[in-house]
Amino acid sequence: MWKTRKNTVLGEGNPFARIFFVGEAPGAKEDETGKPFVGRAGRLLTRIIKAMGFSREDIYIGNILKCRPPQNRTPNEEEQKACFPYLEEQIRTIKPSVLIALGKVAAVNLTGNKGSLGGMRGKVHRFKGIPVVVTYHPSYLLQRGEPRELKLLVWEDMKLALRVLKNEV
Ligand code: URA
Repeated sequence: MWKTRKNTVLGEGNPFARIFFVGEAPGAKEDETGKPFVGRAGRLLTRIIKAMGFSREDIYIGNILKCRPPQNRTPNEEEQKACFPYLEEQIRTIKPSVLIALGKVAAVNLTGNKGSLGGMRGKVHRFKGIPVVVTYHPSYLLQRGEPRELKLLVWEDMKLALRVLKNEV
């Protein structure tokens, strides 16, 4: 994908973050700027972060892939595997207290669970000992027109992540 991308999008945020959000892959805006989650989905993610009581400077945001897939297609397993060691190293360096997987690709890679996203929600998984909370990708919310039911589910997930931070679960 290095052939078609403009910029690599490695990640951004606080190197001492306690919360590390993991998305799928950069989109067009991210490819232009080299920064993660700066398009429409990014604006929604920023709102979610604020609702949790944080700013983007407090947390860290990365992706499974560091290059934009052509036409934003879903990266295949080989592509995901090829990029994953970079994210593993980011996680090892930052040592967050909780990882939040945004959408299926991040969830599968961090939990090893290949079931439905709905089935992975609502419990705390582990990646190398670090708690992982799974939620819907902001792009999915946008595609569906941000229905209230879905926003409530995401909010439940964020509350679970906040409880993990407070060592309540
Ligand atoms: N979607 C993602 O999964 N990651 C980004 O950085 C932007 C949109």
